Amino acid sequence: MKYPKVNKDFFEDILKVETPAIVYNLNILDEIVAMLERDIGFCSNLFLSFSLKANRNVGINKFLATKGLGADVASMEELKVAIKSNYRNIYCHAPGFGKKEIEYVYNHNLIFDFNTLSQVVQSLETIRGKYIGLRVKVPFDTSKSESYCELSRFGIDLQKCPKEVFYENNLVISHIHVHTGEKNIEDFEHTLDFLKSELEHNTLLKNTEVVNLGGGITRLYLEEKELETFWGMVKKFAEDVKKRGIKVILEPGMLLTMISGFLITQVVTSDLITENLNNVIMDSSRFNLFQWGNTRPLYTTSKNISVKHNVFGPSCYENDIFAKKTPLPRLEVGDKLVLSSAGAYVVSMQRTLHGIQGPKEYIYYNNYLDQGDKYELSRN
Ligand SMILES: Cc1ncc(COP(=O)(O)O)c(C=O)c1O
Repeated sequence: MKYPKVNKDFFEDILKVETPAIVYNLNILDEIVAMLERDIGFCSNLFLSFSLKANRNVGINKFLATKGLGADVASMEELKVAIKSNYRNIYCHAPGFGKKEIEYVYNHNLIFDFNTLSQVVQSLETIRGKYIGLRVKVPFDTSKSESYCELSRFGIDLQKCPKEVFYENNLVISHIHVHTGEKNIEDFEHTLDFLKSELEHNTLLKNTEVVNLGGGITRLYLEEKELETFWGMVKKFAEDVKKRGIKVILEPGMLLTMISGFLITQVVTSDLITENLNNVIMDSSRFNLFQWGNTRPLYTTSKNISVKHNVFGPSCYENDIFAKKTPLPRLEVGDKLVLSSAGAYVVSMQRTLHGIQGPKEYIYYNNYLDQGDKYELSRN
């Protein structure tokens, strides 16, 4: 994957914000969307959605909505952000939704992807005679597959589920949805074969209009060869189901927004432990913020000569550490540091150990920087 270039002016601009802060660079996000659109090419029934579990910032989501992406939501909060952001297509699959939330989904003219049979049964009053979606469980061979297989708690097993519930209540299954974690070629091939066979033989699925293939494509973007194979498979599948008028969706989260986010944090204490090792404590916590992804220092206000640094968060947790023995211009109290990869699964899943406040969020677009939920930025 070719990383978008970030110029020095951008770093100088964002170092002016009060810390801790996260700045989302929409120009970078734009480049990632363009890269994915290039990869999709001329496949007219293949579409992208953004998985809001990665980022619920309204500025980011309004921007992605104007780019024509759909939204994948899994909670009431995410659904409300998706509606506010004016996404045209919202796909909703929430394992934790009960009767009331599902009624809310249908009241907004959306179709819900049911995760379990009991979710279907308790909502019959709302969905009788309507279109519904199903998240389906892909039967993997446990001995060969890296995926959760039948141990996964997500999705309905099409072989075991009683068809009468659907027929007797005139439920039309128009959407099917799979997500098997971070994708690998072998398991994905098996998933597509399974879907093709079900679409061909399972009468319950004869009205399918949308097949959602889930997210989890970040790792593939690190392997050029695998990536080519992956897109070849997706496009072939989309071409095969096109004759039936079926739309295919991919719904990445991490890949879309991860590298567009930058954490800006300030040095609170700075102590030389040896001549060449400086221990610094910052005003934001790695433990609280980076539960899933990795991050690394990119830029600093310090113009000192370089020494190795241990860069810690402010919590009492021993392993609250951003960088270990990493060469950086010697950081002093008050210096600021920019860290990478803060655009996905950072604010959306931050912890609050000690009640430490999370970063404020800012949007940067075409040299303008602003706080809040808009991306049409103006310089007053
Ligand atoms: C159903 C579903 N779709 C999409 C995603 C997004 O995955 P990623 O952010 O890895 O692309 C997830 C992540 O957990 C998911 O559970």
